[in-house]
Amino acid sequence: MKRTNTILLCLCTFLLLQTATAQDAKMKAHIDGLLKKMTVDEKIGQLNLVVTGYVPTGTTVSADTEKKIIAGQVGGMFGSHDPVRMKAIQKIAMEKSRLKIPLFFGLDVIHGHRTIFPIPLGLAATWDMGLVEKSARIAAQEATAEGLNWTFSPMVDIARDPRWGRISEGNGEDPYLGSQIAKAMVRGYQGDDLSKNNSLMACVKHYALYGAAEAGRDYNTVDMSRSAMYNYYLPPYKAAVEAGAGSIMTSFNVVDEVPATANRWLMTDVLRNQWGFKGFVVTDYTAINEMSAHGLGDLQTVSALALKAGVDMDMVGEGFLTTLKKSLDEGKVKMADIDLACRRILEAKWKMGLFKDAYGRLDESRPAKEIMTPENRKAAREVASHSFVLLKNDKQILPLAKTGKTVAFVGPLADNHRDMLGTWVIGGEWEKSVSVMEGVKNVAPKLATFYAKGSNITDDTSFIHRLNFFNQPRVTLDPISPETLLRNALETSAKADIIVAVLGESESMSGESSSRTDIGIPESQRKLLEELVKTGKPVVLVLFTGRPLTLEWEDAHCAAILNVWAPGTEAGNAIADVLFGDVNPSGKLTATFPRSIGQIPLYYNHKPTGRPYNGSYQTKFQSNYLDSSNDPLFPFGYGIGYSPFVYEEMMLNIPQFWEEVHLI
Ligand code: NOJ
Repeated sequence: MKRTNTILLCLCTFLLLQTATAQDAKMKAHIDGLLKKMTVDEKIGQLNLVVTGYVPTGTTVSADTEKKIIAGQVGGMFGSHDPVRMKAIQKIAMEKSRLKIPLFFGLDVIHGHRTIFPIPLGLAATWDMGLVEKSARIAAQEATAEGLNWTFSPMVDIARDPRWGRISEGNGEDPYLGSQIAKAMVRGYQGDDLSKNNSLMACVKHYALYGAAEAGRDYNTVDMSRSAMYNYYLPPYKAAVEAGAGSIMTSFNVVDEVPATANRWLMTDVLRNQWGFKGFVVTDYTAINEMSAHGLGDLQTVSALALKAGVDMDMVGEGFLTTLKKSLDEGKVKMADIDLACRRILEAKWKMGLFKDAYGRLDESRPAKEIMTPENRKAAREVASHSFVLLKNDKQILPLAKTGKTVAFVGPLADNHRDMLGTWVIGGEWEKSVSVMEGVKNVAPKLATFYAKGSNITDDTSFIHRLNFFNQPRVTLDPISPETLLRNALETSAKADIIVAVLGESESMSGESSSRTDIGIPESQRKLLEELVKTGKPVVLVLFTGRPLTLEWEDAHCAAILNVWAPGTEAGNAIADVLFGDVNPSGKLTATFPRSIGQIPLYYNHKPTGRPYNGSYQTKFQSNYLDSSNDPLFPFGYGIGYSPFVYEEMMLNIPQFWEEVHLI
């Protein structure tokens, strides 16, 4: 019997391999034929990715897109999720360009497309690969329903510095967990067959080491040993590659002093030769052009360097489009380099099924049936409630009873829709999110509640100006003065038995270009919290944040702290599920919460020193501080629940350990 099974297994594997080889041969024949017909300009055109959306000032942008598509100068487009518009654009490529090569349609679908899930740092806190994969699958279903075939996700950059605003977009500080999540996200987006009309090609980013920007300042330089790279920072990218990610995005920073986008060691030796990556490499937004500011030369020089390093597609900057032909004529790049990059782009289009059916994901009837369905919202609620991390719960104040006591909900995030979704939600509609007050009414309709705003998110007008960079009134000053807001909140709280303070970061305080040097709760809200604590009533802090915050004071003075990150569309319902005990909080931190900024970088898997910390900061000549403990406030892995539990008699499964933690 056993023998028959083995024979059957061998036979199936053989047949699968045969089919794969036949498919590969078919793809090769198609692309060989196409490459023969293409002019050099058309080949370079495939390497050009244009944008339809927002463009930072001062950069080269996609103008005359229609003309370029007709001339075969565009390989793909990103920034829109309007299927009608995209179908019209695909039609231009398919009907008016000489070779009728279909376009990619990409977008930053980061934590859900229309139905928004928790920010990635929150999603990671579930430690549940099933939920992670499910969130990516739903995102892919919704995104492809709106015509997209490519997402710039997952972001798998390891980060140890909470000042960096993009720590919110990643999975925290652990390479193993980061790798598991990278794989689950790729599986979720791409499904079992990239050519299906509900599969979304993944783009793992930002290769490499973007999360190690010095001082947590976005776009800053990086300096790292090879051992730190291989042991901590590179594994999640590698895992995504192993899971079959169709594309990878270069990072803006230097790696070994060479910008990643021109770094041949990174793009070819490691990515392709060591890891066997078969997809294509796209730059980050104008990353080629930015290499001139790095000091590498003019646009022609940096474009040639990028191509020779192994970059295939140029996002927005049009360095490839405008200079590669000249570089070819001058012998600065070879025809073979251009052919190879073009082949990789065409192969991806083939694998995505675009040559078979360029309109496969452009079906206008899908959005009405597939977007923000009750099932999708239910999944978002489930995932969000599992991402919350209970940091403190004195005297079991949580869960709250659904009747009996009176509860005052206070804070600028309590009756707020705008900040429920978190950073990077192009397709997300904050108007459709559930606020905390709405969630409480849904889950505990009989509870006697009061509400008061209590403070602005921040009173600092210049900070508000920066938070509203995209010209939308994301953070506003209330017309009522801060003093009156506070007075009202104290009057409201006086009527209640328990105060739930709903405070923290607004969605625009974390994410790209949102580094902070002060990672505390903004001053206006902190002042409110101090006044609430002074009432002597128990204060439960429901904390919104896109990063680890410094919370020593809050930890010392609040009865409970429930960290809810930015939970997504179903925020309020999920928060109420946990506050009232329908769901037991089970999230665990994947990034260390320091006591103070001065301790950063602080992470769990650091190397020992010759003068180890002995738990006391009073000891001289040891690796410690004069004025602070070395310990974090809340370590990696931390998170309590409503039911007491202990981990005991833990055992390491050695064979499985070595199987999973395979060193590069
Ligand atoms: C720049 C960001 O760094 C990257 O993550 C994103 O995918 C691109 N812009 C495209 O929006």
